[in-house]
Amino acid sequence: MLKDRYGNFISTTSQAARDKFDEACLLIRLYRGDPIAALDGALTEDPEFGTAWALRAGLLVQQMDKTYAEETERSLRAGAAANLTDGDRAHLAAAQAWSEGRFHEATVQYARISQESPRDLMALQTAHVGCFFTGRAAELRDWPLQALRAMTPADDGYHAVLGMGAFGYEECGQYDEAEAMGREAVWIEPQDAWAVHAVAHSYEMRGDTKKGIPWLRDSADIWAPECGFAFHNWWHLALLHLDRGDIPDVLRLYDEKVRRENTPVMLEWIDATALLWRLRLEGIDVGERWQSVASQWHGAAEQRHYAFNDVHAIMAFLGAGRALDAARTLASMKRAAAGSDDNAYMTRAVGLPLAEALVAFDSGDYEEAVEKIGPVRGIAQRFGGSHAQRDLLSLTMLHAALRGGQREVANALAAERTAHKPKSPWARTLRRRGAQLAVVQEAA
Ligand SMILES: [Fe+2]
Repeated sequence: MLKDRYGNFISTTSQAARDKFDEACLLIRLYRGDPIAALDGALTEDPEFGTAWALRAGLLVQQMDKTYAEETERSLRAGAAANLTDGDRAHLAAAQAWSEGRFHEATVQYARISQESPRDLMALQTAHVGCFFTGRAAELRDWPLQALRAMTPADDGYHAVLGMGAFGYEECGQYDEAEAMGREAVWIEPQDAWAVHAVAHSYEMRGDTKKGIPWLRDSADIWAPECGFAFHNWWHLALLHLDRGDIPDVLRLYDEKVRRENTPVMLEWIDATALLWRLRLEGIDVGERWQSVASQWHGAAEQRHYAFNDVHAIMAFLGAGRALDAARTLASMKRAAAGSDDNAYMTRAVGLPLAEALVAFDSGDYEEAVEKIGPVRGIAQRFGGSHAQRDLLSLTMLHAALRGGQREVANALAAERTAHKPKSPWARTLRRRGAQLAVVQEAA
């Protein structure tokens, strides 16, 4: 039996299959190229290579898109019948749980593999992604820190573990640690887009556009080419420009970098939608942009797989004026909420009240929007995503309060924002608008 590039036993005796598998591992940790194609190459060399089938299944489930359900099932079935190490069996069981909607259980299972085999970077990375989707912020940070015990800076993949740790630090509000660890990772491997991303988050959360914009802009030639994750780093750059009120730059980034017409990647639809919604809050005319992204959501409007996706579908439908599609997704979410899988809980706890708040906002019922977002804003991590993504709740609530004349709510949220982001021009603008609202109301 051979070992992979990190020293873990793998279930093949084919050197050629091992080489393709190692290539996939590299692509996965860098979010580059087409790791599925590399795994398929490994499986062409050795169809009984269970490690490759297991990794393939793990990669597919973490897309959080039901479109891949059939391919996932095929990988799980083929994997179960292939040659397997004990580690492969654990990987397959975790991917199986994920495919059945047991996101938390799957995430913990992957982490368990990583604890037993801290050099199994694929288990660690899948656990890390699982933490992201389930809002397990402390473990986003702690599981990579645990794995570092088995590595030295000279080891293959060390940068990736640092990059994960950096993002975990950021999600735990430890921005200095996030910045330092992320920068170390990028220094070792400048193509590590996840580590670049972790550092960018540390600037986003502090409203530090002066550091954030050059950090992303000036290194893009290194991390962006052939990176399947580049759109998200470009999204972060657009957010930083939005913070400064550089609307032409935001729209340029949207058109050229964030939004790829007809992309099948749902995470890209999410970022496009979330950026357009922020522009909508600011009253920016985005022309026909809503129409194309809403059309893409059309086919996924009733997936009931992940509430975070469903909420973004509703946002796109509302932005495009497609009320019937928004109502269709809302009804679908209500059905999802009655279920028993993790998504049912996510939908009940956060997704549904938030979706109803967005519908209320869209119809001009700002008081209702404030009332619906208020209770879920503090627990929104339960339906996953990052702080930066979930900032949409705070922004929508703040704008609803401003539009609805709820001046104390608006001022409270604006004050919170300037406290967290003292350097943010947008936060200061919102604070000013809140103060103006008070003056107007007192004068009336
Ligand atoms: Fe991000």
